[in-house]
Amino acid sequence: MKINKRDWLFIGLIVVVTGIFFAISGKEKTTPVPNDSTHRIVYETAYRNAPGPDASFFKRAFFKPDKQGAEVYCEPCHKEKGIPFPPNHPPKNRCLFCHKLLQISGEAGSLPEKTRTQGVPVK
Ligand code: HEC
Ligand code: HEC
Repeated sequence: MKINKRDWLFIGLIVVVTGIFFAISGKEKTTPVPNDSTHRIVYETAYRNAPGPDASFFKRAFFKPDKQGAEVYCEPCHKEKGIPFPPNHPPKNRCLFCHKLLQISGEAGSLPEKTRTQGVPVK
């Protein structure tokens, strides 16, 4: 079989796509948001509409934490507490795009009992 120009184009495309795939998948190394008492407000806000463990499978599977709602707290508090950003920190308008929330407990989007009952009321 002779490999013609079209075949080469196709092969090239596959190489490029796989290359991009690896480039993206290697990047998940940014420090996640710590799941500590300081950051409780972030988790509570993001997961305030989380379906309970008795909700339907689909409700739990398609639940997305409210990242934009939670992000409003990040910068003011970090400023107040004097947490420095690394000198070459990228543009930081969407913190949770890069700094991932940690998976909390086994159930998708379910908070530990004590987290649910403190601070911001869980709706
Ligand atoms: C109420 C205050 C407060 C809020 C709100 C807050 N932070 Fe923090 N953050 C801190 C403090 C204090 C530290 C340093 C001590 C620590 O790690 O808990 C910190 C540390 C961090 C760290 C470094 C962790 C490490 O392991 O070095 C990251 C990343 C971070 N915060 C991201 C965020 C993001 C993203 C948000 C918003 C979604 C956020 N924080 C909201 C107070 C806050
Ligand atoms: C475009 C991606 C991106 C965005 C958006 C972003 N960061 Fe970062 N952040 C990074 C990278 C990359 C680092 C350096 C690597 C690391 O330590 O995680 C970093 C480091 C940090 C650190 C120091 C972490 C440590 O371990 O010392 C803090 C604190 C932090 N960011 C807070 C924030 C906050 C708060 C916001 C939103 C206001 C934010 N970042 C938005 C990518 C981002």
